[in-house]
Amino acid sequence: GLRALTPQDMAGQTVMITLGPTREKWDGVRFWSNPSSGTMGACFAVAAWLRGATVHAVTGPGTPWLPSMISRYDVTSAKEMFEAAEGLWPTMDIGVFTAAVADFSPIPFGDEKFKKGAEELVVRFASTTDILKTLGAAKKEGQRIVGFAAETSSMQENALKKLRAKNADMVVGNIVGRADSGFQSPTNEVFVTDRNGRQEEWPVQPKTEVAWRVLDWLLQL
Ligand code: CTP
Ligand code: CA
Repeated sequence: GLRALTPQDMAGQTVMITLGPTREKWDGVRFWSNPSSGTMGACFAVAAWLRGATVHAVTGPGTPWLPSMISRYDVTSAKEMFEAAEGLWPTMDIGVFTAAVADFSPIPFGDEKFKKGAEELVVRFASTTDILKTLGAAKKEGQRIVGFAAETSSMQENALKKLRAKNADMVVGNIVGRADSGFQSPTNEVFVTDRNGRQEEWPVQPKTEVAWRVLDWLLQL
């Protein structure tokens, strides 16, 4: 098979990847979300599988087709993503958290369609559980975590803060909101850092390449 063509340097490792957006229901027909496509996470899932790992992908809505060798857990909301990831985490060796999880979820209006008529609409939101931070705090000896940091400015500073705050072993800061990087782009411009203080800025390159190189780095940590 395909794996005869790739290094099996992740054989015996079990990897969980969160990917895609989450979708937070408000009324009977509307939700709060973001443009994440799940591409970066799909690249990690395929790369890790090609390198011999057992891969579990916790996928938000609209995330791409994944080869059937990858176990897939389809979820919708941040709460569902958290529950699926929390259930898997104790038996994982590696967690890669690429998902663009909603930080807030609207207080539901209900199952009816909210009708127009008012001049303005005020919706209240409740904060969601930080999946990476919660599972990072529960990280056991031997487990390794790659987090992401989606930033529109101060990427390096924010990525370094997230590395510590979330007990990650690596953080990949990526520029979002540009056509050649971030949401829905086949390429990404990233800043990579690890718990030992190593830091690198990588020029725009395909997400397939970013995933492969981040795994190279993680295996050397
Ligand atoms: N993350 C998560 N669960 C959340 C929010 C974020 O698992 N509820 C993870 C993301 O998958 C990513 C990392 O945390 O790996 C950083 O996400 P990001 O949105 O960049 O940072 P936040 O910590 O949410 O802070 P902010 O959005 O305010 O920058
Ligand atoms: Ca966030």
